Amino acid sequence: MSEKIVLTGIKPTGIPHIGNYVGALKPLIEMARHNKTYMFIADLHALNTIHDAAQIRRHTYEIAALLMAAGLDLENAVLFRQSDIVQVSQLATMLMNVTPKGLMNRAHSYKASVDKNTAAGLDTDAGVNMGLYTYPVLMAADILLYGTDIVPVGADQKQHVEFARDIAGYFNKIYGETFKLPEPAIGQDTGIIPGLDGRKMSKSYDNTIPLLCPENELKKKIMRIITDSKMPDEPKDPDASTIVQLYAHFANADELADFRARFAAPGMGYGMAKTELFDKVNAALTPVRMEYERLMANPAEIDAVLAAGAEHARAVAEQTYNRVKHAMLG
Ligand code: ADP
Ligand code: TRP
Repeated sequence: MSEKIVLTGIKPTGIPHIGNYVGALKPLIEMARHNKTYMFIADLHALNTIHDAAQIRRHTYEIAALLMAAGLDLENAVLFRQSDIVQVSQLATMLMNVTPKGLMNRAHSYKASVDKNTAAGLDTDAGVNMGLYTYPVLMAADILLYGTDIVPVGADQKQHVEFARDIAGYFNKIYGETFKLPEPAIGQDTGIIPGLDGRKMSKSYDNTIPLLCPENELKKKIMRIITDSKMPDEPKDPDASTIVQLYAHFANADELADFRARFAAPGMGYGMAKTELFDKVNAALTPVRMEYERLMANPAEIDAVLAAGAEHARAVAEQTYNRVKHAMLG
């Protein structure tokens, strides 16, 4: 068990796909076996794009149930809902006062909106709410509230963690050493999981395989993986195949070696390879899907976990917030 404190937030914007699961959630769950980990559902961060309470609520349960079903170790991991800790909003208000506006102007996500508006000939800030503009301050509050050392995130979030570090530095300079300086940990071990068309699996390419869909839908998706038109008796290159790349994430080394050899040799057609891939993926996901469905039918069980997580997180948050309040207001 390392001494480091790990923290990450997941926005409740829908059920992840297999790329998110293999590339982000599984490594996080693994990390949480060996580190004290705060993992929260960032419902406040979803507010700048989702203005529908029922939708945020549903997605919050989905993410919590998925993490629990996928084996998050609740001994080491504190699982909670961001909005249950009122101190995070209070700390964000405090941090606003040491955060340069210019820093926010440089945030990638804000700049992307400005660029899009400019290209469309609109006002630079059209459609930009203050939730989007100050998103990095709230995220800094998330990170600094729990004495975080390491923040595992996708590459797109790296700048936000650097901002949190900058903001902690500005604060410490004015008010004395108060915050630890957090560091991002960008997971690259798993590589990029390809989608149905061979490009990176991504919501934006509409090429995803959903994580928790019914079996027949999973099968249909996998059967739709794009291949060339080689016949079963023609040799095929396993390194160039989406089927083999996906198989690699769900099989052990021996199974993978066997699959690759049979794939490369004459005899195995794409249909058969896809059926074998489906069997592997389905076998891995079935227990997760079943437990997920059980939990979604018993929301009280999810509520109990989130309530216990919130109680734990709140105790730490209160201490940090009180120190900040004392430093800033006496
Ligand atoms: P999407 O591209 O579908 O919008 P996100 O950008 O929301 O996915 O990704 C959420 C997390 O899942 C990030 O940490 C990201 O690195 C990881 N992830 C997403 N797609 C893949 C993929 N195809 N392969 C590996 N990791 C992925
Ligand atoms: N902004 C992150 C995302 O879009 C979610 C998030 C909110 C987060 N607060 C965080 C991640 C704190 C890490 C640490 O995915």
